[in-house]
Amino acid sequence: MERDEILQVLRKIDVLPTFPTVMAEVIGVIDDPMSSAADLAKSMDPSMASEVLRMANTAYFGTRSFRNITSIEHAIAIIGLEHLSQIILHMPFLSMMNGSGEIDREKFIRHSMICAIASKVVSQTVHMGDQHAVYIGGLMHDIGTIIIYRYFNAEWKMISRIVREKNYTWVQAEEEVLSCDHGMVGACLLTMWNIPQSVTDGVMYHHFPGNAADNIWNAKIIDIGNRFAKQADLSDSFTDFDEFIKNNKHFVPLAEELGIQISLSQELDLLDGVYGLMKNVRSLLVEAGEEKE
Ligand SMILES: [Fe+2]
Ligand SMILES: [Fe+2]
Repeated sequence: MERDEILQVLRKIDVLPTFPTVMAEVIGVIDDPMSSAADLAKSMDPSMASEVLRMANTAYFGTRSFRNITSIEHAIAIIGLEHLSQIILHMPFLSMMNGSGEIDREKFIRHSMICAIASKVVSQTVHMGDQHAVYIGGLMHDIGTIIIYRYFNAEWKMISRIVREKNYTWVQAEEEVLSCDHGMVGACLLTMWNIPQSVTDGVMYHHFPGNAADNIWNAKIIDIGNRFAKQADLSDSFTDFDEFIKNNKHFVPLAEELGIQISLSQELDLLDGVYGLMKNVRSLLVEAGEEKE
């Protein structure tokens, strides 16, 4: 299956969830510690703004019928930026993952968020790539996997069979069946959503950064973020920073393998940044889990 064929199939799917560019802007504003509620309000589209107002009124007054908060800035102050980012960051995943029974939703979201965070911290630390693009790209890097599962399900089954029977890696099996991998499929979707090329290139080449013609550093950095997230996914039990450092000794060799030199102080900054943000993600996911019950 060639890229054009995949695009054709994607174009025919009329239930594809939309991911307006404004969402990327909102993610960017949340991601920037210097941004204010007013900046955030400016970047919201009307449907998102009305959802935020609804949440704020519910949170503040405990009722959906009594609506008193009409300013978006006021609403954001009530909900809190962190809670809001959790909701907004989950939106595209939530709608995409309905009915994806064989994909572990919590694990997928956590993997995506850790990849986003690690990629951003790497970009900031080594001053390479665009930290904003790698954050959003990291968040969306495996979205192609869900697309393949939902809209190319026969191919998905063939891919799993090849992985089981021929001992191929998942990406090798995707190449065999689709002539491309989930990075390419995800990038096609993001292109349809008008996400900038600095992001889509990083997604497209996250398993083969050497193949990228443009935005090579974004692809390299998301590759590292992805590898880190894969390993970090397994270390569920870390309690303190020392233990976290001990468990993540593989991080620097990983970066060096990809031609990124990291000094000792950069390594500490980097692990410190990822550790802090990961703790944040974990508490957000715990909160999200509690809400569901
Ligand atoms: Fe991937
Ligand atoms: Fe991944």
